[in-house]
Amino acid sequence: MEHSDPTKVAILGAGRGGRALLDLLHQIPSIEIVGITDRDPAAPGLQRARTLHIPVTTNVPDLIGNHGVQLIMDVTGNPEMETYLKAHKPPTADILSGSASRLLWKLIQHESKLEAELLQAEKLAGIGSFAAGIAHDINNPLQLILGLAENLAEERDVAAVHEQALDIIEAVKRTSAICRDLTRYSRRASPHEDVSVSINAKLDEALKIARYASSFHDIEMLKQYQPGAAVKGNPDELLHVFVNLITNAVHAMEQAGGTLTLETRVLGGQVDIRISDTGCGIAPEKIPEIFEPFFTTKAPGKGTGLGLYNVNTIVSKMHGQITVESKVDQGSTFTLTFPHAQPAGEGSP
Ligand SMILES: Nc1ncnc2c1ncn2[C@@H]1O[C@H](COP(=O)(O)OP(=O)(O)O)[C@@H](O)[C@H]1O
Ligand SMILES: [Mg+2]
Repeated sequence: MEHSDPTKVAILGAGRGGRALLDLLHQIPSIEIVGITDRDPAAPGLQRARTLHIPVTTNVPDLIGNHGVQLIMDVTGNPEMETYLKAHKPPTADILSGSASRLLWKLIQHESKLEAELLQAEKLAGIGSFAAGIAHDINNPLQLILGLAENLAEERDVAAVHEQALDIIEAVKRTSAICRDLTRYSRRASPHEDVSVSINAKLDEALKIARYASSFHDIEMLKQYQPGAAVKGNPDELLHVFVNLITNAVHAMEQAGGTLTLETRVLGGQVDIRISDTGCGIAPEKIPEIFEPFFTTKAPGKGTGLGLYNVNTIVSKMHGQITVESKVDQGSTFTLTFPHAQPAGEGSP
């Protein structure tokens, strides 16, 4: 949710340090990487830059002189480069090199570790509220299995035994599916590279998980999915975003029930994802506060106030935007907008 002009950064050196800087800075919307350079054409950072569509060059004077660069990050570790930069940098550009750039790299690494931990902590805190839902959903098939097994103990007819055995297998599969969903959700987001994620399938997966956490009693579901909606990102993080927004929507309708609408739309190279409820709504003066860490109107144990803060972190990292429209006592709509990605083939995450 930042709108100021991005800071223009040039990265000199595309070894391990340069590549890591590239990966991290690339995720920050307020930074524009105008180019990266290295003497070695096979340097790992150059390959990474190409996949991220960041300009690669061997022409240092052009890179630092002609692109309005505001910050030059020198991670070449080459003293000659330091001397060259001192003599030739444009007067408006700052240089970060040597131990200063190493320190920055450490700080960024530290921050991204904290961020990942916060995300995980919030997710685990949320899982506490799942317990009742899971117990209920596992108990149903277990009762069924018990009944079938009791029958089996008495059954003499082979065909009937066969049929009941199949019913038992089905019931066991259902319980394992519940366990699988939850273990997948509770694990730490894997740090794999961004992939194309099918939004409609992810929303359905989130819906299944949110059902364990909150009661969908008296809630009507409406899905308006556009086929093929896909965005680039981390599937685990996106799941986390959707579970949060759906859970919030359901909480908002706890008193009187209502309608939960999930909508996806692909338009002009963009994907819009809308999660709407007809619940209690948010007062206009509270809207800027809901994204602040620890802002919650929920009872302890039910809300951490970290949900939307984390949602916002993930969405900005994916270069997306989040907007809220809300009317007290009428409901709220959270809209996420991302650049559209090419849908992946079958079996994508
Ligand atoms: N769909 C919604 N309808 C009404 N209020 C909402 C909605 N989503 C979020 N809020 C408000 O924003 C606050 C912060 O949300 P969040 O960061 O997810 O934390 P938590 O859900 O743990 O309280 C909520 O406590 C609630 O007051
Ligand atoms: Mg929440």
